[in-house]
Amino acid sequence: MCGIIGYVGFRPVNETLFRGLRRLEYRGYDSAGIAVHDGERISLLKRRGNLDSLEPHLEALPREASMGIAHTRWATHGHPTTENAHPHLDCRGEIAVVHNGIIENFQELREELTARGHRFLSQTDSEVVAHLVEEEYQGDLLEAVRRALRRLEGAYALVVMSSREPGVLVGARKDSPLVLGLGEGENLLASATPALLDCTHRALALENGEMAKVTRDTWRLLDLAGRPVERRPFEIPYDVAAVEKGGYADFMLKEIYEQPQAWKNTLRGRLDRSGRLRIEELEGHGIDLSSIRRIIFVSCGTSYHASLLGRYIFEAWMDIPVEVDIASEFYYREPRLDPSCLVVAVSQSGETLDTMGAVRWAARCGAPSLSVVNVVGSMMARESDGVLYTHAGLEIGVAATKTFIAQMAAVYLLGLYLGQERGLLEEGFVREVFSYLESLTGSIEEVLEDTEAVETCAEKYCRCEDFLFLGRNINYPMAMEAALKLKEISYIHAEGYPAGEMKHGPIALLHPGFPVVALIPSDPIYDKVRNNIEEVRARQAPVIAMATRGNHEVGGFSDEAIFVPEVRPQFNPVVLAPALQLLAYHIAKMRGCNVDQPRNLAKTVTVE
Ligand code: F6R
Repeated sequence: MCGIIGYVGFRPVNETLFRGLRRLEYRGYDSAGIAVHDGERISLLKRRGNLDSLEPHLEALPREASMGIAHTRWATHGHPTTENAHPHLDCRGEIAVVHNGIIENFQELREELTARGHRFLSQTDSEVVAHLVEEEYQGDLLEAVRRALRRLEGAYALVVMSSREPGVLVGARKDSPLVLGLGEGENLLASATPALLDCTHRALALENGEMAKVTRDTWRLLDLAGRPVERRPFEIPYDVAAVEKGGYADFMLKEIYEQPQAWKNTLRGRLDRSGRLRIEELEGHGIDLSSIRRIIFVSCGTSYHASLLGRYIFEAWMDIPVEVDIASEFYYREPRLDPSCLVVAVSQSGETLDTMGAVRWAARCGAPSLSVVNVVGSMMARESDGVLYTHAGLEIGVAATKTFIAQMAAVYLLGLYLGQERGLLEEGFVREVFSYLESLTGSIEEVLEDTEAVETCAEKYCRCEDFLFLGRNINYPMAMEAALKLKEISYIHAEGYPAGEMKHGPIALLHPGFPVVALIPSDPIYDKVRNNIEEVRARQAPVIAMATRGNHEVGGFSDEAIFVPEVRPQFNPVVLAPALQLLAYHIAKMRGCNVDQPRNLAKTVTVE
């Protein structure tokens, strides 16, 4: 939620900040702004809308600036207007602030500051930070920010500059990510590493309760008590090419086509020489897997659907109860956990605050947590007791695609690993299933090569305003994921439903203009799903059947058929998911939607 960046160094500041913002645009895009320091004063540029609205006005900023801060916003408090866009300034225009997060006590602070004569220009929670720093400023920006932070409740990643201290940026974080990029004669602070790549590949992540003071040649980390913090920088493991479209029309399409690689990379190097499954990043985690009596997946959105898949797999492979919870519904009901419950948090970003809440709740209850995360070194990876990385690479499209398939790979892998470590699965079984998983790369490729039927369906039904996706058993989470994908990128109302549950209510909705996508790959409950499809047909709703290649009867009970490669029933989700993503993608494109930046969304959700 929101991308922030600060730059100090030798490059043209306006362009450098703007390029950095482009790399963060997936985090929010309803308004944007830049403030630069030209050695004397701060100049400000803000616009409503995405970065395209800001770009034509960059010329208005002074060219001789040597540092600046910038922001691309996903609105929480206050409408997406120019006034509410960041950076925010104090009353004198001497302090400029960009903020990602939510200041929970902003009303109270705002009233207090207003009573002391401060004038507010926006409806945001963030503006109070500029005024608080102004109040505390006595010639030392770092100290002023440190004192101001004591008053803030909530989540923040901040970058602050003062017109009175040219060449100095101050950053701070609590519950929203902030990284420091270390260059030669230049340094940066930003929400995420993609924003650093044009300048440097060396970075370090600030932890909660830490601050950074940065100039073009120096940097210093400290805690809120002002004590120095030591941290070793890391190398950012991808380059600029990874954050470009590489010839594809959109990031989403590029990422859909990167799925075979994401699948392969997540499985790579997991078997040791003796043929035992090995998850290197889980070694030495200190979780006693043999004492686990209950597993609870927690996650949001697409990651929740990968977690649901986990339940089917774990229950099939192990005699252990498995629950799945939506993270934002989890910790507020204060679920009873104890050291025998393993909380598995699934998150692409590793920063989703709702899921973080579940990890922290587990820690409070003494329950071990294990996160399945894509972003290396993210907050969840650091705070949970163990981590399993999905090596999907950087995902920029707001809709999760390649990270979903990587989460599925991780869930199968984790199931095998837990079964192996708890002595519930034979070594031979683990090895055999693992090599089958590896072989599925080819099946994913096949789905991506044969898109004609998907495009034909998209063309025929893209003007419909409702869709129902039906799946049963292990394919039910794919129906839910397909509905989410379609909703978020095409704005079509869609629901994912268990095929057998439809007769208990939703069937009332059906009519000839309401297409139903039925997931009916070959598996032991094929006949049941077929019966459910007949129920749909009896209500004259068009049926798009997604079936296993070689099924010659499907044409007899559907209006359209999309075929996926034949795989073992437990792995049908792996071939259904990319086909469903492509269907959503083509429908959205045919409706003229911006699939990379769907309205109202942001990629990383760091607010509750
Ligand atoms: C949908 C999507 C979201 C995320 C959700 C959780 O395409 O991307 O539903 O899955 O916001 O995000 P992470 O996985 O980062 O915790």
